[in-house]
Parts: sequence; structure tokens; C-alpha cells
Amino acid sequence: MNLNILVLPGDGIGTEVTGEAVKVLRVVAAKWGHQLTIREGLLGGVAIHKTGTPFPEETERLSLEADAVLMGAVGLPEFDEAPPSQRPEIGLLKIRQTMGVYANLRPVRSYKALLDSSPLKNHLVDGVDMIIVRELTGGLYYGTPRGITGSGLEERGTNTMTYTRAEIDRVTRMAFELARKRRKKLTSVDKSNVLETSQLWRKVVIEVSKEYNDIALDHILVDNCAMQLVLNPKRFDVVLTENMFGDILSDEGAVLAGSIGMLPSASIGAKKANGAWTGLYEPVHGSAPDIAGQNKANPFGAIGSVAAMLEYSFGLGEEAAAVNRAMEQVLNSGHVTADLRPAGTPATTEQTGEAVCQAI
Ligand code: IPM
Ligand code: MN
Repeated sequence: MNLNILVLPGDGIGTEVTGEAVKVLRVVAAKWGHQLTIREGLLGGVAIHKTGTPFPEETERLSLEADAVLMGAVGLPEFDEAPPSQRPEIGLLKIRQTMGVYANLRPVRSYKALLDSSPLKNHLVDGVDMIIVRELTGGLYYGTPRGITGSGLEERGTNTMTYTRAEIDRVTRMAFELARKRRKKLTSVDKSNVLETSQLWRKVVIEVSKEYNDIALDHILVDNCAMQLVLNPKRFDVVLTENMFGDILSDEGAVLAGSIGMLPSASIGAKKANGAWTGLYEPVHGSAPDIAGQNKANPFGAIGSVAAMLEYSFGLGEEAAAVNRAMEQVLNSGHVTADLRPAGTPATTEQTGEAVCQAI
């Protein structure tokens, strides 16, 4: 198979973790005889520094030409005071929108070897296996009007949470289809006791559910969901929610996995003519400027995102399973980065990536 991939390392530890993920891709391509074409582009703070904009036209073109995109992380402290429209993060929002990847799949699972890395009691986390389906191209992140107007005590910040039926319908179908391949349980998260967007959300989810009688559906308010995620996380299988709620809940979910460095994600949208998903793959963690350039970052989120890419964008289930198995083997060996190993000598980013390559 010809794997035509765009890599956008982005900022901070993005460069280091995508570096290891690409090594893994090369090993997979060599072992299974795939032709790998890798291009690299600019996104986020590094793109602002080099071209003056966080999502240069060149990156837009490359992202539309690629079969799949692997992204590292965006965000740099020097832009902390900049307005949202001029920050590195807008680059990520724009590429998600350009690629039309409206469903962000964030699997959250526990690993036996990492049970003690979570601050929660072992019996609560052991066996956690859920996937958060976060709507990715709507809601507060994109709604207008937005901005800061006026001055003095009348100065006002505005954001708009808005969803159409079509936007809710398509991501809901994606979540039901996923639930069908798993434990057949879907939990929709909203704030329908307060928000109209959530009332429409719940109504559409219930309507779509009529076509999925084999799936058990329940609804939970987002505040209660935040609590249940740490009280009784094993109750969740597929969790469906809007953009902002999903952003917040998935960071909370990272506590179950032992470290946010462990979480991969796959953002998918329209299918191409050949049936493959247009996909953007990125770890859930951020650019972590405090440890950038120190060979300390956990590359598992990025490597797990490569496994997701092999599965969703290329239909290479065997290769994806081999990458996941290799990661688990390395985790079990205890040769892992500092976020997973508070005591003893931790492995470096490169050593961890190298070990996964060996294990494949
Ligand atoms: C994430 C990140 C992004 C988001 C930021 C960097 C724009 O937090 O992917 O979870 O909020 O979507
Ligand atoms: Mn986030």
C-alpha cells in the first residue's frame, strides 16, 4: 500500500514525539512492505515564526493532498497574551475545519503496568476501556459572534455555542457505529437542564438512536459525567459529547490512563472515494514547553495515534494491532518516561520509541 502522510510536528514536545512516531511508521512500512511517503509542514507557533501565520497556505494544500496527517502539538508561551485569532492554537482549529474532521475519537484505557501511575485506587481504574467521541468542528470553538468589544466596565467578551441538527446527527451516527463494534453502550453527555444547544443535542441523539436498537443509550449531564469519570469510570463504553465538554472530559480521562502522555486521538470526517477516512491524528497532550527539547516527553500518545491512523485511514488492522502490542510490551518492561515512572531512572523519549520499534 502507498501511505502518503503529512507530518506536522508543531511546537514544544510535538517535534520529539512525532519523531518517534515516524520511526515506528517506518518500521511498520518496512516490515509489511508498504511504500511510505512522508512530507513535513508547519503548523502553530513555529509556523507563525517562519511565515507569520499559524496555518500557512502551503500546509493547507499539503493537508488536503495527504492520505492522513500526523500532528504533534501546538502552543508556545510567548503567544500567551495574543488574542485567540493570532495564537498557535487557531492553526489547529483551522486544519480541523479544513479537513472536515468532525469526530474526534479519544480512547481512554487503563494498562496493568500503569495502575499505580493513576492517583485513583487500582480497583477503580483496572479494566477501564472507553472511547470519548468529541464533536470537533462546531460549538463554542467556532460559533459566531465572538470577540471582545467595548471598554471599561462595559468591555464584553462573547462566544457563541451553536449546533445544527446536521452537525449533531453526523457525529452521533459515528458514535453509534463505534458502539456497535464495542460493548454496545453509548452515553451522551450534555447540559440540557440549562442549554438549548444541549436540548437539541439530546433530541437528535434520541431520534438517531431509533436506528440503533441494539445499542443501550443513556444521557448524563456534563457535571455529573465529570464526577462519574472518577467515581465509576468502568460504567462508560462510548461517550458522545460536544466540542468543549469533550476537550475538558478527555483531560480528566487521562488520569485514568496514568498520564496524559498516553492518550492518542483520531479525528475523522468525510470518507474518500476509496472508502478510507480523511484523518488527522494527534496525541491529546499539549506542547509542554516546560520539558520541550529535553528528550523526556512520553511518545506513546503520538505512537498510539499512528496505530489509529493505520487502522482508520488505511484499514491496516494487523499493523495497528502490532503497534499497540509493541507499546504494551514496552510498558510492561518498565522502560518508560518520567511521567509514568516517578522513581528510578526513566527512559528518554528516543529510548522509548526505539524500544517500540524493536518490539514490532
Ligand atoms: C486538544 C487541545 C486543543 C483543543 C487546543 C490546543 C486548541 O486542547 O486537542 O484537546 O482545545 O482542542
Ligand atoms: Mn484539550
